[in-house]
Amino acid sequence: MQGIFLEDDGIKPFITDEEYEGMCKRVEQAHDMLENKSGKGSDMLGWIDLPANRDEEEIEKIKKCAKRINKQADVFVVIGIGGSYLGAKAIIDLFDSTFSNLQTYSERKHPQIIFAGNNLSGKYLRNLVEYLEDKDFAINVISKSGSTLEPAVTFRTLKVVLEQKYGEVMAASRIYVTTDPEKGILHDLAIKNEYEMFKIPKDVGGRYSVLTAVGLLPMAVANINFEDVLDGAQFASFVFNNKDVSNNDCYKYAAYRNILRESGKDIELLASYEPSFQYFIEWYKQLFGESEGKDGKGIFPAGVNFTTDLHSMGQWIQDGKRNIFETVINVQVDRSLTYLPELEDNFDNLNYLAGKEIDYINKQAFKGTLKAHVDGKVPTMVINLEDLTEYNIGQLIYFFEKACAISGYLLGVNPFDQPGVEAYKKNMLGLLKSKE
Ligand code: PA5
Repeated sequence: MQGIFLEDDGIKPFITDEEYEGMCKRVEQAHDMLENKSGKGSDMLGWIDLPANRDEEEIEKIKKCAKRINKQADVFVVIGIGGSYLGAKAIIDLFDSTFSNLQTYSERKHPQIIFAGNNLSGKYLRNLVEYLEDKDFAINVISKSGSTLEPAVTFRTLKVVLEQKYGEVMAASRIYVTTDPEKGILHDLAIKNEYEMFKIPKDVGGRYSVLTAVGLLPMAVANINFEDVLDGAQFASFVFNNKDVSNNDCYKYAAYRNILRESGKDIELLASYEPSFQYFIEWYKQLFGESEGKDGKGIFPAGVNFTTDLHSMGQWIQDGKRNIFETVINVQVDRSLTYLPELEDNFDNLNYLAGKEIDYINKQAFKGTLKAHVDGKVPTMVINLEDLTEYNIGQLIYFFEKACAISGYLLGVNPFDQPGVEAYKKNMLGLLKSKE
């Protein structure tokens, strides 16, 4: 069943029928380019059929290793950067307790999961090594290229710690590698040392890889039902493949954001009223940022967590330069069932809300903000997520992946490469390798 729906009342005042019809025709062409594999980067379309054409052998191995990791480790360190960690972190944050990393193993019922290798901070690494000193831990190093410096620096450091702690042979059984299936430093090392190895298919780029072992192994270790995520994504791969834009919320979203871009609104704020979506927003930023921002073009993907950021960015959004539009992820059902207590002394005068769900209060904030932003000339779309389930999150992931690919083609760029990322790497490596 479809669990996500696009609400466009807050967009309609800002676009004309003519613009919509014109854009629909272009979306249909972009759809054909994906279907016929005739667009730019068409050798990187493996993500389209990932949920439907599952690698069952790999899935069984993920389940088996997740069980082993749960037995052998109090802490599971996931080393990776960009597409090699954001999706896994996003999904784990959505389903774990907000305070998961402060809980004990028995409260959490899985190892603590720490993401590392996504920065070059000495402080972060030192603190991590100190933290791991008296813990049983295992490592999942994730890098498609096998040579990205941030994860490489962290992996080298933790490999030494692991080997000092357990000896080389036992350490090897605590190292899990997710990388290119055929080549690369990590691939070769895994073969040599007989580490468990998982594949990132050649035709799936980093930011489209959350539904491969890149995301699935960490999810499995966190006891997330990743097969439900895949089922949801598979459902989405059918329902969001409808060429008729008016009956395809994913294509409609792509159409709207590009109409807005062409009218000068080239910043998209992805907003949520649920703080555990923070890393989902980070995942979205990377997906769209690396896919669209090239050749001097693109919508700048930004994110806000409401209501928190209404007290920091709210002023700007309401009143600043009118070059933004907003897309809100709205979780319709809140299962936390948290109510505001009634108090005899009513010291804070909040008894008028006593007995109400906190989510009810949150929803009024959402509705009030939506109206204020649309009145303030911020076109706003809402993606309604019926319920926060693995199945619906699978749909949401696929929704954004597909919308991003379509948007890239509407923009005329290759949504599957990232040539701009090389510039900093080249300079950094030049500096690191220079003799001075
Ligand atoms: O989307 C991408 O391709 C990138 O963000 C990569 O995921 C990121 O640069 C990490 O690359 P790698 O997995 O090769 O270490």
